[in-house]
Amino acid sequence: MPMIHILPHTELCPQGDQIEAPAGTSICEALLENGIAIEHACEMSCACTTCHVIVREGFASLGEMDESEEDLLDRAWGLTPIRG
Ligand code: FES
Repeated sequence: MPMIHILPHTELCPQGDQIEAPAGTSICEALLENGIAIEHACEMSCACTTCHVIVREGFASLGEMDESEEDLLDRAWGLTPIRG
């Protein structure tokens, strides 16, 4: 089962964490199911970007970004460039 390593976040997860998530589970769903209260204003209907996260490693294990996700990222705060 895929493992998600969560870096410390002062408000959401001060100590950091590691959680397992079945393949196909969204990161937002996995965080919420494990008690990490990430904002999700549109209830995960892909309309707002409040649930966006920064992925530092493991891009190969992510699904393809669809067109609506790509469009929404233009509105997301705190984006960082992909590190090569
Ligand atoms: S909660 Fe994820 S896009 Fe709105």
